[in-house]
Amino acid sequence: PKVTVLHGPNLNLLGTRQPEIYGYETLEDINKALSKTAFAAGWDIVCFQSNHEGEIIDAIHAARLDGTLAIIINPAAYTHTSVAILDALNAFEGKVIEVHLSNVHKRESFRHHSYVSLRADGVIAGLGTGGYQAALNLILKN
Ligand code: DQA
Repeated sequence: PKVTVLHGPNLNLLGTRQPEIYGYETLEDINKALSKTAFAAGWDIVCFQSNHEGEIIDAIHAARLDGTLAIIINPAAYTHTSVAILDALNAFEGKVIEVHLSNVHKRESFRHHSYVSLRADGVIAGLGTGGYQAALNLILKN
């Protein structure tokens, strides 16, 4: 079984980007920890980050065909803008968990709406990198 983890724009800067909001762990730290957990459970994992909306859409399309059973996605700012990412996720038949490092509901009002939440089976916000682990643990158990 396979899980695909997708990270949206600016998340390549994790560790140095507004660490008071997003923490000090890097994207590589996050992906390494997730890979370790997935491999220990006998799962395959694909981790992908892009600053480009179309590349994230292409990665969701790839997940439809590569045996991915579940997608964990932090669409970052595209959460609040992208009907196209929502449409791509609607064309994916597996489980979708939306993750945000920060509690978007505690922040500016433009972060309160998520297009992706219209598709997500579950949403985790405000648990930092623990949110990705919680999402993965849930997927591995189901
Ligand atoms: C984010 C929250 C978004 O509002 C923001 O644009 C991000 C990261 C988070 O993980 O908290 O880039 O998705």
